[in-house]
Amino acid sequence: MPLLEARNIVSGYGDAEILHGVDLDVKRDEIVTIIGPNGAGKSTMMKATYGLIDCWEGTVRFNGNDITSLRPNQVTQQGLCYVPQKENVFPTLSVRENLEMGAYIDGTPTQSDLQSVWDRFPILSERRNQRAGSMSGGQQQMLALSSALMIDPDLLLVDEPSAGLAPDLVDNMFDRLVEIRDETNTAILMVEQNARQALSVSDRGYVLDMGENEFEGDGTELLESDEVAALYLGE
Ligand SMILES: Nc1ncnc2c1ncn2[C@@H]1O[C@H](COP(=O)(O)OP(=O)(O)OP(=O)(O)O)[C@@H](O)[C@H]1O
Ligand SMILES: [Mg+2]
Repeated sequence: MPLLEARNIVSGYGDAEILHGVDLDVKRDEIVTIIGPNGAGKSTMMKATYGLIDCWEGTVRFNGNDITSLRPNQVTQQGLCYVPQKENVFPTLSVRENLEMGAYIDGTPTQSDLQSVWDRFPILSERRNQRAGSMSGGQQQMLALSSALMIDPDLLLVDEPSAGLAPDLVDNMFDRLVEIRDETNTAILMVEQNARQALSVSDRGYVLDMGENEFEGDGTELLESDEVAALYLGE
């Protein structure tokens, strides 16, 4: 049984149907990437999965439970965390205070929780007392990700973890995601624009286009597909 099993998800905003029956699985300990053109519905799929917007049809199961109608805070309590594409930190709080907010369901972060953040992202350690809003977009992304990990989720949804990072830091972010999966057994579902780099660290990937599944397969399978390359990977 997959850890996350989304079936025939239909959803959207107001009268606009954006997702027309999307299927998506994440197995335990997998890294899975969703790629696809701008406006394809990638972020919408994450929001529908996490309960930020309603599913009009379809079901989302997580760890064997039907979570389709749960609100986001209830989904978090089930062990599924979400890092949005934008505005994902508390800008007026310090780095350390953001991590404390991330941990609130469990109480306060332990010393070893904090230490693993400082080890993984040394820049956050240097800036632990700085206001989150005064950091670069990439640094805020590292903080948002670290905050979500404070409750030790089984699955992390991350919308564009490499967004805002300088090009030479993009691979580093993907290496950290692999490390997080390996060290904490957290499965990761990410949306990415740096499709080649993301797929190269992914067990599996999905291509979404116009709110529908277009392709799915192993990370390497998608990278080696001429059709996927021509339509979705550029060059
Ligand atoms: N809050 C919203 N209200 C109304 N329409 C929205 C909203 N958010 C997104 N949309 C629309 O839904 C469609 C899919 O958007 P979505 O953000 O899911 O795409 P995406 O694949 O994540 O794109 P990108 O790669 O640019 O992040 C787009 O047509 C977008 O305009
Ligand atoms: Mg998006």
